[in-house]
Amino acid sequence: MFSKGMQSRVIKLGLLIVGLSVAGAALAQSVRDQQIAERLTPVGSVCLAGEACATGGSSSAGSASSGTSMAQTASAEFSAQGTYEQYCAMCHNTGMANAPRRDDAAHWTARVAEAGLATIINNAITGVNAMPPRGMCATCTDEQIGEVVQYLSGASAQ
Ligand code: HEC
Repeated sequence: MFSKGMQSRVIKLGLLIVGLSVAGAALAQSVRDQQIAERLTPVGSVCLAGEACATGGSSSAGSASSGTSMAQTASAEFSAQGTYEQYCAMCHNTGMANAPRRDDAAHWTARVAEAGLATIINNAITGVNAMPPRGMCATCTDEQIGEVVQYLSGASAQ
């Protein structure tokens, strides 16, 4: 059937496949070991510089401080400018749909003086005319919209 040369090539190919699958299994096992090690890492082992690390005790002080560091992490990830660029810039940089432009400082100064920062923040949250509620940032909290409006209007809360 097969010539001798062909036969030895078939055998070599077979050995190669066996070799590869052994190597693959070893690699998969080491990845699994790593994943297991990661899963076994105790939750809450991360602590902020300058803060006493939680000892894992169930004291109320311990859980309160871990709550604080979670809140700090969440606010660190939020950026008023980043949110503005992502959600608001397409209208407020261009003036699309008659949106007041961010670079129109005169408009914002007059508008904040006339209506007050709280009112225009509220309008941004609920939406007004062609301005969609929350500027379409569904995940933004009221507080975060407030920060983005301050970035947009150049006005800061007192
Ligand atoms: C689809 C376009 C569009 C997007 C996206 C958009 N806006 Fe607007 N925005 C408008 C328009 C149009 C107005 C003017 C509404 C009016 O007064 O008639 C406006 C007005 C505003 C005002 C002024 C409200 C007032 O009372 O004067 C604020 C503040 C504002 N937007 C904030 C935001 C923020 C913050 C975002 C992003 C999170 C955003 N907008 C995204 C179109 C948009």
